[in-house]
Amino acid sequence: MQKNSKKVTAILLGAGHRGADAYASYALQYPEELTFVGVAEPRKERREEFKLAHNIEDKYAVESWEELLAFPRLADLVLICTQDHMHMEPMAKAMELGYDILVEKPISPVKEELVDLKEKTENYEGMISVCHVLRYSPFFRKIKEIIDAGTVGELMNIQHMESIGFWHMAHSFVRGNWRNTAESSPICLAKTCHDFDILLWLTGKKCLRVSSFGSRKLFREEMAPEGAPKRCTDGCPHRSTCPFFAPKFYLEHPKAIVDGFRKVVTMDETTEGLMEALKTGPYGRCVYACDNDVCDHQIVNMDMEDGLTISFTLSAFTNECERTITIQGSKGEIHGWMEDDKIVVTDFVTGNKTIHKLNTPKVGHSGSDASMMQELVSLIATGRQKENVSNATQAIDSHLIAFAAEESRLANGKVVEL
Ligand SMILES: NC(=O)c1ccc[n+]([C@@H]2O[C@H](COP(=O)([O-])OP(=O)(O)OC[C@H]3O[C@@H](n4cnc5c(N)ncnc54)[C@H](O)[C@@H]3O)[C@@H](O)[C@H]2O)c1
Repeated sequence: MQKNSKKVTAILLGAGHRGADAYASYALQYPEELTFVGVAEPRKERREEFKLAHNIEDKYAVESWEELLAFPRLADLVLICTQDHMHMEPMAKAMELGYDILVEKPISPVKEELVDLKEKTENYEGMISVCHVLRYSPFFRKIKEIIDAGTVGELMNIQHMESIGFWHMAHSFVRGNWRNTAESSPICLAKTCHDFDILLWLTGKKCLRVSSFGSRKLFREEMAPEGAPKRCTDGCPHRSTCPFFAPKFYLEHPKAIVDGFRKVVTMDETTEGLMEALKTGPYGRCVYACDNDVCDHQIVNMDMEDGLTISFTLSAFTNECERTITIQGSKGEIHGWMEDDKIVVTDFVTGNKTIHKLNTPKVGHSGSDASMMQELVSLIATGRQKENVSNATQAIDSHLIAFAAEESRLANGKVVEL
């Protein structure tokens, strides 16, 4: 890798789970490459924690993105890590100020806004990169290398599965931030725009039309077992048989600790602090008594250019949170298991199987979050922003597939042309 010629400076809008923990932590690990000089975050505890950790001057640790972007440009890069509905306005302001931009997905949950944005992003001088972190994962990079080398010949058919994990579903899409379409976006945008994006990137082909089916089948009031109270902490009689019993997940599940789910529930991660937050906050609610409406399983059929077909499935009802993919070509096939870090390529002519084991980290989307930060910082430091592999113009295409899939699902699976 090219050595960075300068230290990159950045500001953060939204010091939440993604902004502070997944991305800005890179600056604490590699202070010689990246430093944060400003933060906007309304939650005082999170703002103070970030200010102290990154040694930010008081005047640049403010409550809202509007205040921070009211200053003349303060840094090379702005990270926009606010919630789904709050990306477009700060992005427009950051473009006026000439920042390089890293914006969280979905760029916007409003289709019309994205269509308008496409032309502006194409003509923007600086970098607008979208946090489609899978493009930086060693796993999908290896698969792309195999496809591009022609190893499996012409692409014919792909099966791609997004296993959400029953515990991740309960945390994020039943009790948490992405449970409700009106407040955030449909799950096939909030979660699955990553998958549509990676499929576009891997195949290099456009999607022509889609159809989709799916529903919220389990996480509904009428599915609650008899006598279940509104909160797990109110003496639930099903505590030992329910997979979604909140205290068990937040106190015991390794992912709750490693992937930072606990910190989303409360800044006080002691047993007492967590139990108090579960008694009073959204994450202690019974999964059958939440204001959620997003699907818990959905399938999307994609008809691609050149006769390639893709079937995609997302499901809450899996033990692991992972992605698996099967790619069938004219000369061979690829099977990949992201969480196991394993890719098997079979050659139809020789029958030979090549096994790739990648040994990537088990955190941060299998190492993708840190790889993305490393690559973007290096591109900015060396003035190669235009080489960024996840630009907004391409990301918008993945979002448009998600909107089409949701339109189809709501219309009983009618085919929607793109
Ligand atoms: N790329 C990925 O893999 C991935 C994964 C999860 C979530 N996301 C996306 O990342 C974004 C952030 O998600 P998160 O989990 O970090 O959520 P979060 O709620 O933890 O963080 C958002 C932060 O924005 C802050 N905020 C609210 N109003 C603000 C304002 N006016 N100015 C500045 N900050 C403000 C909130 O207080 C909060 O701390 C969402 O759009 C989400 O969909 C992306």
